[in-house]
Amino acid sequence: MATPTELPLRRRRAGPADLQEVLAVYRQSPGYFETIGAELPTEADVERELLSAEADPKRRVELIFLAGEPVGLVDYRLDHPEDGAATLSLVLVVEAYRGLGIGQQAVRVLEQDLAGRYRILYALVYGENPGAERFFTTLGYRFDKSGGPALKWFKKPLSGEP
Ligand SMILES: CC(C)(COP(=O)(O)OP(=O)(O)OC[C@H]1O[C@@H](n2cnc3c(N)ncnc32)[C@H](O)[C@@H]1OP(=O)(O)O)[C@@H](O)C(=O)NCCC(=O)NCCS
Repeated sequence: MATPTELPLRRRRAGPADLQEVLAVYRQSPGYFETIGAELPTEADVERELLSAEADPKRRVELIFLAGEPVGLVDYRLDHPEDGAATLSLVLVVEAYRGLGIGQQAVRVLEQDLAGRYRILYALVYGENPGAERFFTTLGYRFDKSGGPALKWFKKPLSGEP
């Protein structure tokens, strides 16, 4: 795919008040939950997650908007698994908006934000998800280790070099 034109994405931290937006992103991404062998989160699940994320100073759930519409989210943890590193546990783009460069742009913006304060960004891939592995490899991530049969850690130094 040719490098897509930068889309005017906005992102902001999501809290319990954003329950419906986050739920809408999950409901428009059913294939991901099938891939990881999980049920689509319920409203109560998402509410619990957002409350716990808000209470955790190291956890960030951020919604990604295009023209005011929530089209995806990133979920990551600071100083995890060690100080000076951050771990991206989910980048999700709603199915209708895939392949437009939104995922790539969201991860690059996150890397730019974290660079300087964090040396490494880890990315977690759950289940059998070769598309996600290719996505992160395209972005310069390298396989780091397995975290059990259903979890792979990828990593990228944030100093600028891929
Ligand atoms: C992975 C994901 C976020 C990519 O978002 P996106 O906006 O569609 O990706 P982009 O348009 O920015 O594509 C970036 C690159 O990754 C590749 N890619 C993206 N999704 C892919 C897939 N499912 N299979 C193969 N390649 C994929 C694209 O081909 C593109 O590479 P190219 O420019 O060299 O062709 C999206 O597919 C998604 O939400 N998947 C479900 C959640 C998930 O698996 N997240 C990753 C694990 S946390």
